[in-house]
Amino acid sequence: MKVNWTGFSKKTRLERLDFLAQKGLLSKEKEEFLAKNETLPLNVAEQMAENTLASLALPYALVPDFLVNGQTYQVPFVTEEPSVVAAASFAAKIIKRSGGFNSLVHERQMIGQVALYQVPDQLEARKKILSAQAELLDLANAAYPSILKRGGGARSLWVESKEDFLLVYLSLDSQEAMGANMLNTMLEALSPELERLSQGQSLMAILSNYATNSLVTATCEVDLRYLSRNKEEAQEIAQKMELASRLAQIDPYRASTHNKGIFNGIDALVLATGNDWRAIEAGAHTYAARSGQYRGLSKWTLDPDQRKLRGELTLPMPIASKGGSIGLNPTVEASFELLGQPQARELASIIVAVGLAQNFAALKALVTTGIQAGHMKLQAKSLALQAGAQQEEIAPLVKELIAGKNFNLQAAKENLEKLREK
Ligand code: HMG
Repeated sequence: MKVNWTGFSKKTRLERLDFLAQKGLLSKEKEEFLAKNETLPLNVAEQMAENTLASLALPYALVPDFLVNGQTYQVPFVTEEPSVVAAASFAAKIIKRSGGFNSLVHERQMIGQVALYQVPDQLEARKKILSAQAELLDLANAAYPSILKRGGGARSLWVESKEDFLLVYLSLDSQEAMGANMLNTMLEALSPELERLSQGQSLMAILSNYATNSLVTATCEVDLRYLSRNKEEAQEIAQKMELASRLAQIDPYRASTHNKGIFNGIDALVLATGNDWRAIEAGAHTYAARSGQYRGLSKWTLDPDQRKLRGELTLPMPIASKGGSIGLNPTVEASFELLGQPQARELASIIVAVGLAQNFAALKALVTTGIQAGHMKLQAKSLALQAGAQQEEIAPLVKELIAGKNFNLQAAKENLEKLREK
């Protein structure tokens, strides 16, 4: 069904929920649940963390109409930061008009390691471990047989010497789960046998968040006419965005902020889907530093014929659609419903596309009006609505508030009265 999203941000919260239900994007049950805003029952909170006192709430918002691999998604965001949702919505809108995002999941396996030390002969130990590879994989799978029934399991094992450590890596197909528990169980089961084979000691057995076997790439091509109606200005904006992306490759101070902007969107969606955002952040920041210098994760390049701005973002995305707190938290269930119940690979594709969208909006704002203009406009808009401005009164009132640099409700009300007297 084709949905017209114009004006979605101007509706009230309950109108938005009703709109989603009317369009068949949210069940009646979840509409009522979100309307009541009883986000996390305390008995569930107590299952999730120890010494629970209460639960801390954050805004749960929606970025509509996100086109990824030809499919439209309604994307839930959990964020405390103003303008993140507006920026992602803005980018989603422009990029949809330009054909949307393409996302490619290169592979989806988790990696873990057993770190051996005091190994008397690393070369000999490596040989023994590699020749016992098939038995070791069987041993790992025997420690967590349920994943085999689901079509997953331990897939490969390799060994690396790093100084006085002999590191044994295991790669796991965890299917829809993130796989941390599975992998840790398997690695701990392997440790005694690895100690025997290597004649060394196991220091630790743990998954790695540097999930290089779970890389996802999102790309998009933005038609320059959507950057500005003026052709020359559009080209200048695109050139500056390309420069901004180069700057993030060169300067770690800029790279850090550039990537923070990407994570404004990624974290918001990872949180909304009940996933472990620390794991996703840790993996991505390590990936950003893989060359030995911390760099921007995305790249923007202008086509040689200067008609399209091409964006690309690659990062590890070992996301889950099952397990952890996902099945416990009823708001997370609403997120999966809004997203159309994606499987893990599909969700990973959406998340990386969201990161690219967020980066697009931030860079465009930075190289044009600057970041503060958008913030002030949003603040003024929300004050105008709170002051009771009607649709046609919003734009002139926002203009007055920005010109007066007086961002409070009293000023909004006074300016609205003056506008009405004119
Ligand atoms: P604008 O062009 O003034 O927006 O941009 P507009 O009022 O013309 O509206 C255009 C569309 O934007 C709307 O279409 C919505 O899709 C969306 P419509 O619905 O009207 O057909 N939109 C909104 N959606 C929901 N609620 C709203 C809303 N307003 C617009 N209230 C905008 C305004 C804020 C989008 C723009 O200035 C922008 O993208 N700014 C960037 C903001 C940003 O990146 N914020 C993140 C926080 S800053 C940060 O932490 C990251 C950073 O440091 C990263 C880095 O350095 O790389 C910047």
